[in-house]
Amino acid sequence: MKALVFHKPKDIRLDFVADPRIENARDVIVKVTSSSISGSDLHIYNGYARQKKPLVLGHEFMGVVEEAGPQITALKRGDRVVVPFPISCGRCWFCERGLPAHCEKSNPAHYGPDGKTGRGGGLFGYTEEYGHYGGGQAQYVRVPFGDVGPRKIPGGVPDERVLFLSDILPTGWIAAEWCEIKRGDTVAVFGCGPVGLMAMKAARLMGAARIIAVDVLDYRRRLAKRVADAETIDPSETDCVEAIRHLTHGRGADACIDAVGMDADRGLGESVENALRLQAGSIKVLRQCIKAVRRGGVVSAVGAYTSPANFFPLDEIFEKGLRLRAGQAPAQAVLDQVFELALKGVYTAEDIVTHRMPLDDGPKAYKMFNDKTDGCVKVVLKPWDEEVVEQDTAAELQSFAEYEEMASLSETLYGERAQARASGGDS
Ligand SMILES: NC(=O)c1ccc[n+]([C@@H]2O[C@H](COP(=O)([O-])OP(=O)(O)OC[C@H]3O[C@@H](n4cnc5c(N)ncnc54)[C@H](O)[C@@H]3O)[C@@H](O)[C@H]2O)c1
Ligand SMILES: [Zn+2]
Repeated sequence: MKALVFHKPKDIRLDFVADPRIENARDVIVKVTSSSISGSDLHIYNGYARQKKPLVLGHEFMGVVEEAGPQITALKRGDRVVVPFPISCGRCWFCERGLPAHCEKSNPAHYGPDGKTGRGGGLFGYTEEYGHYGGGQAQYVRVPFGDVGPRKIPGGVPDERVLFLSDILPTGWIAAEWCEIKRGDTVAVFGCGPVGLMAMKAARLMGAARIIAVDVLDYRRRLAKRVADAETIDPSETDCVEAIRHLTHGRGADACIDAVGMDADRGLGESVENALRLQAGSIKVLRQCIKAVRRGGVVSAVGAYTSPANFFPLDEIFEKGLRLRAGQAPAQAVLDQVFELALKGVYTAEDIVTHRMPLDDGPKAYKMFNDKTDGCVKVVLKPWDEEVVEQDTAAELQSFAEYEEMASLSETLYGERAQARASGGDS
């Protein structure tokens, strides 16, 4: 089959590799119909996430069941499915407690309780340390524990409505949920990439009155304004912490979301400082979140960090009484709820897709997404010959008025928790 294979940093090739086969009774083989490139793939691409052997990449994919292992009863050949990115067994201590990204069974070689020497559960197409599973930027993919992750897609629903249930829809939702938003809150989101944009949409649906979006790229800030009616700040022009305080009576935002991570854009001076501190990447954005959030607020860090950091501002966290949430999103835990919102068109990512390309053009797509050229926000790759409809800009985007409507619908769906938030009070 054809697959996008990582060879070394900045070297991704379209290779012919062996088709995946059923290896365990709970495996499913999925014929991929759509796949996309994630900001997390860029950590491998740029060499921040180490990978020595060739690996088929991709953890955002959907397709059609080609073959199901003997213990799979709920899926059969021909079923359309979308698959969330953490590989979880559904039965271990962590899976049973709604923490699928920490599954004890899916990454036996590298799993461990320690966050430095050990890793969490397996991830599709995401390095040796996360199980060395082949990913979905390919014509076929093996899905372990096929009775846990995959969700069946009803007929007639277009791929792009549900493809992003694999990652950015649940991740954005969890980023916002970690903020414990109450009606009328102000949420500052650092990073207007796919994850940040989904977090903004989710925060609106959970009742945030104001979204402040921070990004160094003008075209992405404009998208934040269009999809989430965000007020925007360019941190390369303005002191973004001061700007956020200025917009919030000097106090700071109720919650800050870090949807940038260690790859933050930084000047030469900061890069040298980084090298001297012997840390991979930068915690610049996390620090800004800690500064820009109000006392007693929440910082929700979904942007990825893979290195220890010096001068982590623990003193500021303590002094301001902050709550900090971070980590891989437990996608399965919110998948059914987010699935319903996606099917109803209330919470989707179709409107941020900027490029649709054949899998064969994957290496070009990686470079474009990494270099942030051609207005690229999200690329959908098509592994099979079919007409690929090129669209140079994001599709028509919803207006804020539609968002208001969606927010009330979401409140009905989101139920009691939204009500509890609306009634205020610290939780
Ligand atoms: N926790 C999880 O489960 C999970 C899941 C998916 C993605 N992620 C992580 O989320 C992060 C974002 O993913 P994405 O797909 O949106 O990636 P992306 O690279 O498309 O987006 C990152 C955005 O941050 C902006 N940025 C860079 N430096 C900045 C700075 N100094 N200040 C403000 N903005 C800055 C970039 O211009 C870009 O728009 C990545 O680190 C990714 O690994 C985490
Ligand atoms: Zn498990």
